[in-house]
Amino acid sequence: MARTLIALAVAAVIAIAWAPTADAQDEDFDAPFGEQTGLIPNFPYRICNTQVGAYRFAPEVKHLSGGRFCFTIKVQTQGCTHPCCFADLYKIEFNVSDSCIVQPSADIKATINGNYTRIGAAFGRPVYGRNGSAILRLTQLGLNTVTAANAEVCLILKANRLGKGCTTLEQLCVPPPGAARGMCAAAMYDTPCDCCPPPSLPPPPSPPDITPNPVCRVCIIISLLPPSFDINRYRFDNRTCSSIQDYIAASINASIVSNNIPMQSYFAPNASLCSPLEIRVCGTFVDANGANQLKAAVELQTQFWIKFVAGGEVCRAELDRYAIQISTEAGSCLPLIDVESCNLDFKPFPNCSCKTRQGILPFTISPRYFPLKNKFTTEYCFVISTLPPDQILPSTCRMPEEILTKIEWYANQTSAGMIAGFTLYPAGGSKSRRSTSWGAYGTNTLKATNINWTLQEAHGGMVCIEVKKPGTLKDVCLGFSSQCYVSTFNRNKDCCPIYRADLAPTASSGLR
Ligand SMILES: *[C@@H]1O[C@H](CO)[C@@H](O)[C@H](O)[C@H]1NC(C)=O
Ligand SMILES: *[C@@H]1O[C@H](CO)[C@@H](O)[C@H](O)[C@H]1NC(C)=O
Ligand SMILES: *[C@@H]1O[C@H](CO)[C@@H](O)[C@H](O)[C@H]1NC(C)=O
Ligand SMILES: *[C@@H]1O[C@H](CO)[C@@H](O)[C@H](O)[C@H]1NC(C)=O
Ligand SMILES: *[C@@H]1O[C@H](CO)[C@@H](O)[C@H](O)[C@H]1NC(C)=O
Ligand SMILES: *[C@@H]1O[C@H](CO)[C@@H](O)[C@H](O)[C@H]1NC(C)=O
Ligand SMILES: *[C@@H]1O[C@H](CO)[C@@H](O)[C@H](O)[C@H]1NC(C)=O
Ligand SMILES: *[C@@H]1O[C@H](CO)[C@@H](O)[C@H](O)[C@H]1NC(C)=O
Ligand SMILES: *[C@@H]1O[C@H](CO)[C@@H](O)[C@H](O)[C@H]1NC(C)=O
Repeated sequence: MARTLIALAVAAVIAIAWAPTADAQDEDFDAPFGEQTGLIPNFPYRICNTQVGAYRFAPEVKHLSGGRFCFTIKVQTQGCTHPCCFADLYKIEFNVSDSCIVQPSADIKATINGNYTRIGAAFGRPVYGRNGSAILRLTQLGLNTVTAANAEVCLILKANRLGKGCTTLEQLCVPPPGAARGMCAAAMYDTPCDCCPPPSLPPPPSPPDITPNPVCRVCIIISLLPPSFDINRYRFDNRTCSSIQDYIAASINASIVSNNIPMQSYFAPNASLCSPLEIRVCGTFVDANGANQLKAAVELQTQFWIKFVAGGEVCRAELDRYAIQISTEAGSCLPLIDVESCNLDFKPFPNCSCKTRQGILPFTISPRYFPLKNKFTTEYCFVISTLPPDQILPSTCRMPEEILTKIEWYANQTSAGMIAGFTLYPAGGSKSRRSTSWGAYGTNTLKATNINWTLQEAHGGMVCIEVKKPGTLKDVCLGFSSQCYVSTFNRNKDCCPIYRADLAPTASSGLR
């Protein structure tokens, strides 16, 4: 839809011309909240020549996807001898609603002919305006009467990370008195800010709003946010992606149908929108109205989508310390954001002051343990891996020739009688047995001591807990669901990173 940009005629108060440096001026002209003086109550809220100038915006405003709004600069110098007709174009300010100034601030960007401006667009409260007046400033544009001609200036409006902020021109601009919503008043400054012309053209009549609203394409974005120390390397594969796309498309399509919302195209899976950390599912609404109608229903669904994305449970062991986010693009006509991660109430179980952060020792535990069935017992085997030296996090733990001294589990000591012992399977070595030991009563700590594996023995080695039938490890471990907390110790026993492991779905160690 073509929106109209209106020029304004601010009562000229041309008395003094002052020209301190432009950067200093910009700062001088912004006031903290509640400290605006109201001395120049009309936009552009400063003393400058609003009558004459070379620059104006063409009346048409392009509305593109992703919250982009583009204006075209027109240059008109013919027949004008006033210095403002030869001035440069340093800065553009829009008269905006102060409700767009949100905390944390929204990252609003601007482009000129497709290139980002050197300095992002910024909101300010003009010091001479009344309380509540606000401007959006694009500065250091570096244009002149030649380079500005037909230059395309785009604003990319974005909500902040809490979803607050202005994402449409209707929300952003305060229309001049009598003008329709969505119309923006702007002033174009030269470097000394002597000239701030709004075009001298009469505002074009606002066209009756018969043009249909633009269609609105919405992509639901499913993101996997790994922790900084990403030992599990969990990623979406194509099969998982396709099942997630199917699920979300079916779920949102059902809401669309039951709310009778007209669509240009329904949400649908698309393999080209799959990547290891991000999946998209897109559909196109006939207009923003429909998207708006669906918002409440979708907000109720996102938690179920996240659960599905996590494979049923955000606390699954592979996703230890990951987060899953469901969102839409900034400026989408269906704004959406929901982030979830596993939040288990857990205090590190080794009742001592060892360091529990993952990655500080070379020894890690695979997120799945698996059963080996014997006649009277089941061995539950934990697979050990080792980190290459450059992946080990810096800490005081690290020693050359480190050995895996012991492993501890957070386990219910009343189940001690179920446990027959441990079997150690070092990589490339023969198995051996160890008897169980426990921490002080009440600490619920099951220990496999005297393991003493080198890095070579540990990498691909297994430590198995042998549980007497009909007991299972689920009866022993004190973790969420069938999960175990497992801790690996170094020689000094001052470091004991804790990992979460769950029962593998099949008897093989097949993970994903
Ligand atoms: C702006 O608000 C402050 C504090 O509320 C007040 O002291 C001041 O007079 C107001 N200024 C204008 C121009 O209304
Ligand atoms: C935009 O960037 C390109 C590539 O850096 C450059 O060639 C072009 O001149 C730039 N345009 C403007 C208007 O600065
Ligand atoms: C600028 O915005 C203020 C509100 O902050 C409004 O009262 C005024 O009419 C606007 N002026 C123009 C010329 O758009
Ligand atoms: C996953 O899908 C993408 C895009 O369709 C394709 O390029 C890639 O080869 C696929 N990966 C696998 C492992 O099939
Ligand atoms: C989306 O909804 C439409 C209309 O009900 C349906 O034809 C289509 O199969 C749905 N797509 C998916 C993936 O559910
Ligand atoms: C899948 O998405 C790509 C990229 O957005 C698009 O070009 C393609 O047309 C889509 N395919 C289908 C079947 O919608
Ligand atoms: C160990 O546990 C005991 C009993 O629960 C408690 O009194 C003690 O403070 C704990 N010690 C440490 C270092 O956490
Ligand atoms: C440990 O197991 C016993 C017997 O099954 C049970 O009563 C108790 O609640 C368990 N303790 C914890 C902390 O779960
Ligand atoms: C393991 O190492 C410790 C000292 O680091 C030693 O006391 C113990 O005997 C060793 N155990 C085995 C089985 O080698």
